[in-house]
Amino acid sequence: MPNRTPERTARPRRYLMCRPTHFTVDYAINPWMDPAQPTDTALAVRQWERLASLYRRLGHTVDLIEPVPGLPDMVYAANGATVLDGRALVATFRHPERAGESDAYQSWFQANGFREVHRAGFVNEGEGDHLVAGRRVLAGTGFRTDRAAHAEAGALFGVPVLSLTLVDPRFYHLDTALAVLDDDHVMYYPEAFAPDSRAALRALYPDAILADRADAEVFGLNAVSDGRRVLLPETAKCLAGRLAEHGYEPVPVDLSELLKGGGGAKCCTLELRPH
Ligand code: ARG
Repeated sequence: MPNRTPERTARPRRYLMCRPTHFTVDYAINPWMDPAQPTDTALAVRQWERLASLYRRLGHTVDLIEPVPGLPDMVYAANGATVLDGRALVATFRHPERAGESDAYQSWFQANGFREVHRAGFVNEGEGDHLVAGRRVLAGTGFRTDRAAHAEAGALFGVPVLSLTLVDPRFYHLDTALAVLDDDHVMYYPEAFAPDSRAALRALYPDAILADRADAEVFGLNAVSDGRRVLLPETAKCLAGRLAEHGYEPVPVDLSELLKGGGGAKCCTLELRPH
């Protein structure tokens, strides 16, 4: 716990989201997905609508991309690209089930005034595995994004990239195991990372908030921070307390239906960082 609670400042953000109009779980590409378990698309839409209006109430801008029939995972907009300084690096997905999303995201960026739009030359699942922390990118590999994609991102954005290896299939994207709270502050679940990655995180972020297994398992790290307000599942109780001790305002959200696809608030949210 910090000696004095630091003052945290929110910065207005611009987010891209995709309404879960066609959401369902009819294939399994991560351990959370079970096609035998029924999904309630109307409930998913209501939960997602609440998330979008919460962002707007907090002063953020929400842009929308049109959902495409037959692409049920498109609601997880974080995977569509990584965007920094107005440059978009559009995802190349690991699984054929999601491959069709790349064209949809690429067209959206081309139609919406981004100064450079590139398609990743390696498997690269966007902000699922590339988290921007100030002028650095933290990049995950092990299940989805190729390690070679990290260097491609670093070269395009002109920023240093720290590669981190994920080792637990339940935490298959970096954004299920780590959240950027502020330019130089993060929270993460150490057990999701290989020992050398854990050591690198410890060295870079000695004051990071560490999550326990229970909070990680309810997707507590799939959180969205604007520098002050941190949206996370209402079930991540312990983590909410830790965030408050560190001067953040935890804001509980319920995305239980989207959890059936293996995603939470962060997965549904792609941050657009302008030039
Ligand atoms: N069903 C999706 C998949 O397995 C979930 C993606 C969640 N997104 C995220 N940013 N972690 O690809």
